[in-house]
Amino acid sequence: MWQSPGQLSEIGPIPAAKQRHSPNLRKSVLTALSTAKLACPIDGLPLKASDRSLICSQGHSFDIAAAGYANLLPVQLKASRDPGDSKAMVQARRRLLDDGVFKPLADALADLVLQCLASAAEPDGCVVDAGCGEGFYTDHLRQQIRSSRPNNEIQVVGVDISKWAIQSAAKRYRDVAWIVGTNKQLPIEQDCASVITSLFGFEMWESWFALQRSGQFVITVDSGTAHLVELRELVYDDVRFHDAPTNTSAIEAGYRMTEEMKVNYKSTISTPSLLRDLLEMTPHVHRSKTRDFDDDAVKFPAQMTVDVVVRAFMKP
Ligand SMILES: C[S@@+](CC[C@H](N)C(=O)[O-])C[C@H]1O[C@@H](n2cnc3c(N)ncnc32)[C@H](O)[C@@H]1O
Repeated sequence: MWQSPGQLSEIGPIPAAKQRHSPNLRKSVLTALSTAKLACPIDGLPLKASDRSLICSQGHSFDIAAAGYANLLPVQLKASRDPGDSKAMVQARRRLLDDGVFKPLADALADLVLQCLASAAEPDGCVVDAGCGEGFYTDHLRQQIRSSRPNNEIQVVGVDISKWAIQSAAKRYRDVAWIVGTNKQLPIEQDCASVITSLFGFEMWESWFALQRSGQFVITVDSGTAHLVELRELVYDDVRFHDAPTNTSAIEAGYRMTEEMKVNYKSTISTPSLLRDLLEMTPHVHRSKTRDFDDDAVKFPAQMTVDVVVRAFMKP
């Protein structure tokens, strides 16, 4: 929850950290951040981009890093010193996503986002990828939105609690507003998140319901029963099949499900090291004794099933 002005006076404005930026902050970074409908993580007031920082009318100021992102995760919203995915996890995800295994999923997601934008109330807000990781899906969304709605300036925002993920995203992808922040309190202005996407992430239904207005959407992507079954067969003697999580929490928060579809296809993993990267990206890594895939047990390219459930929810 935002803090009231009364509470604010106790906390006081956060001083801008020392300027550590290179002099040549890209113009595209400022444009993306200033059109992204960002809100102060302390009090929810709109943030304005000013030179090298984002500032709200109460004087809370947040540096824009030279690498091209803003950190909107004040210490009181941080559960640990280095929250979210580690650098190694981010690098593994990047290598695997670069290999194209999840490209058909990115296409299906973009199609659904465009459909939702077409029917969203006030679709001139922003599209927020919550828990965006290293930015592969986020940038794909940006490209598809730009090419199908060339005259509509919908800004795409990528938010992740991992600074490693956002640094990696900002380094590679331009024209997205990259934010270190938390799903618990997305730093977006009230009523401006036309679509929130959450892929393999952590939905904060009640907070998102409060943030959005009627006619806006959340799109989720979750593992289905057969997702990465070939990997699980390598890791476990006894593979268990779980259904995708239910939609109960979304419905209880007040959302209505408007779409549910399965995306299911076979892909290939070309090398043992990419298979290890895939394992690194999943919770199976913690339970796995099998890390060495370059024996005769696996033939490369290895078949891999992608089986996910994609759902759209609308705030009625
Ligand atoms: C399984 S990864 C998915 C990343 C990306 N959506 C993808 O599919 O490539 C989950 C991501 O959520 C981030 N994360 C975890 N807790 C978060 C929170 N409270 N707020 C924002 N991001 C969070 C992690 O740092 C990680 O990048």
